[in-house]
Amino acid sequence: MTGHQVNTSPLPSQGGACPERVEGGRGAGDRRAFLAWLTRGSLATIAALALGQVARFISFAPAAEDQTAIPVGQPEQYAAGTLTYVEPARAYIGRDGAGLYALDAVCTHLGCLVAQQAGGGFACPCHGSRFAADGQAQNGPASQALRHLALNLNQDGQMVVDRSRPVTPATRLAEDS
Ligand code: FES
Repeated sequence: MTGHQVNTSPLPSQGGACPERVEGGRGAGDRRAFLAWLTRGSLATIAALALGQVARFISFAPAAEDQTAIPVGQPEQYAAGTLTYVEPARAYIGRDGAGLYALDAVCTHLGCLVAQQAGGGFACPCHGSRFAADGQAQNGPASQALRHLALNLNQDGQMVVDRSRPVTPATRLAEDS
């Protein structure tokens, strides 16, 4: 056997280094680690966003009630068939065939101010509640109607909305009082 050279170096043991396997294994490990990192990062981001929304929802604070009797002008200012938002009173002053009335603009869900809809009725910008033109709740989360508020004339002939005194939807200002 003098003409042949025999490789006498030991075979790699089973646990020995196999360049291809080690390289492939490291790549797969890196991918797994990257995917795990990506998953953890995505979950953390989603959780943070969800927590932010929950915190925003929980921490929502409606505007504090201020004075309860608020002047809203003369009856002549309000034409028949109109519905006018009066910011200081946070109420809509409407005049229909039966007379003048005040409808609370404060949403019965968590207290945001509802906005008039082009097609009639009101929508709350906070959580999407909808109310009919007469204040009845149509879509939640609010389940209670917008309040109708007492509307009175003071000694100067000025109308005053009394936010502390809800009235029935049929109540109208007694203009001859
Ligand atoms: S405050 Fe939530 S729907 Fe109006």
